[in-house]
Amino acid sequence: MKKIYLSFIAVFLLVGLTSMTPLGKKMISAINYSSATTDQVLDLPDVMLDYEIADLPDFIKNAPTPWGGGGGGNTFSLVSNEGATLGRVLFYDKKLSLDGTVSCASCHKQELSFADDVAFSEGIQETKTTRNSLHINDIAWQNSNELFWDGRQSVLEEMVIQPIIDPNELGLDIVELIQIMEGTDYYADLFTEAFGTPAITEERIGDALAQFVRSYASFDSKFDQGLQNGFADFTASESEGMDLFEAQCGFCHASPHFGASTFSSMFAGQNFTNGLDSVAADPGMGGWTNDPFFDGVFKTPTLRNIEVTGPYMHDGRFETLEEVVDFYSEGLQPHPNSFFNWMSDPTGLQFSDEEKINLVNFMKTLTDENYLTNVKWSNPFIEEGGTAVQDPHLFEDVTVFPNPAADFTYINFNNSQGKTYDIRLSTMRGKQLQTASFEGSQYVLNTSNLPVGIYMIQIRQGDTQRAIKLAIN
Ligand code: HEC
Ligand code: HEC
Repeated sequence: MKKIYLSFIAVFLLVGLTSMTPLGKKMISAINYSSATTDQVLDLPDVMLDYEIADLPDFIKNAPTPWGGGGGGNTFSLVSNEGATLGRVLFYDKKLSLDGTVSCASCHKQELSFADDVAFSEGIQETKTTRNSLHINDIAWQNSNELFWDGRQSVLEEMVIQPIIDPNELGLDIVELIQIMEGTDYYADLFTEAFGTPAITEERIGDALAQFVRSYASFDSKFDQGLQNGFADFTASESEGMDLFEAQCGFCHASPHFGASTFSSMFAGQNFTNGLDSVAADPGMGGWTNDPFFDGVFKTPTLRNIEVTGPYMHDGRFETLEEVVDFYSEGLQPHPNSFFNWMSDPTGLQFSDEEKINLVNFMKTLTDENYLTNVKWSNPFIEEGGTAVQDPHLFEDVTVFPNPAADFTYINFNNSQGKTYDIRLSTMRGKQLQTASFEGSQYVLNTSNLPVGIYMIQIRQGDTQRAIKLAIN
């Protein structure tokens, strides 16, 4: 096993700290250098795992275009073992976030088909996402023109960069990201294997992440086995649920993929939603097209692994599949664009109790245990030691001035209770330059020895911390 140990051992630069600030305020801090170590071990197998040849059933192997029309084609052929391996490391590497606590996998968990188990997920600053984390599976067989709940992104290679630079998700800009990666010993080798040279570029990062995500193939469920053996193992309830599903749901959640590869509104050249609300709080596709025709229109997600991806819908409003079926049965709302408006009873499909149970039982046959546990999509890092929890409310009133700074900067905040805090200064690569324990309200950070660049100040109390970027010029 190839193990690469990364240790961020505190480097204590004895940077002289002035006892009087130029403003004449006495600096109350007692400087007390203490050590801090975080270990993260990358543990990749010597023999590369196979991403190129997935164990695909025939019906999917030769599929030329995604189901449901819309074009785009099967993009699984873009996956290489080396590219996906690099993408896997990127997907799980918490160092690629502003405070080192979040990765793609924080909101996209393999055991949940790369969804999250909360309605809205937390990024670095404890800010919640405004939509439910989408489960990711079989994206290579979906219409690649329709990413996100509202389909606003069309190129996966570009889309996967978005969470990194989103201030609420991973919170870095591209320059900082590349800086961190260049200071991390394993990336040069991984980029060389994937792309022939060690150069780290935005384009290559997007390409590798997209290859990993495209490799997510989930076609080993009870339903897939059923397609090959005439559903011999299906219970009566599952079979009846399947028939009912095909009749009532398959129009949008098209089998065998179970996600429309096109927007429901575009399916029949019509404009509709699935009737969640009579007035859509989130306009979905209408939000970026600015066209009332698309108000309340959302991506029809694949239902593969749907058993484990709850809560459901773009806002995570339903906890269970039973609630979802109740909604389609009795809870449809008369949105002007609702697909169901043409029905004689547009309030719901009016399933019997038995039909509801059958539908849920059928949807559970779409779970692929191998997908949820296969090591090739799992975390390649062995995590050792904890990182402090990010708390943006800690020091809500903190100011860092001047920022950009030259020789020193003042960290000011309200500490009337005289609590003890740790202040750490580190490079964006995670290397610690100064640590100090401190009880006052103003801390003077001497930055006169620092080269021009972006640094990170962490203010920490107990297990919580707040990270603030500091520019030196
Ligand atoms: C803070 C939580 C969070 C993090 C971190 C995060 N995501 Fe997401 N992801 C989401 C949410 C929420 C959505 C749905 C957003 C929307 O539709 O507007 C989403 C959507 C997606 C989709 C779209 C799937 C589809 O079917 O359209 C992909 C792909 C994706 N994320 C990949 C990634 C990658 C790669 C990373 C890391 C670089 C990442 N995500 C980091 C929360 C997160
Ligand atoms: C008109 C097209 C359409 C029909 C018909 C339809 N759905 Fe949906 N379904 C959607 C759309 C669109 C969404 C996402 C809506 C949202 O979040 O705003 C969705 C979401 C879902 C979800 C949640 C997916 C997730 O990832 O959170 C489930 C489960 C589901 N549908 C099951 C069904 C079942 C069962 C039926 C038949 C009784 C059905 N659907 C019929 C379009 C449809």
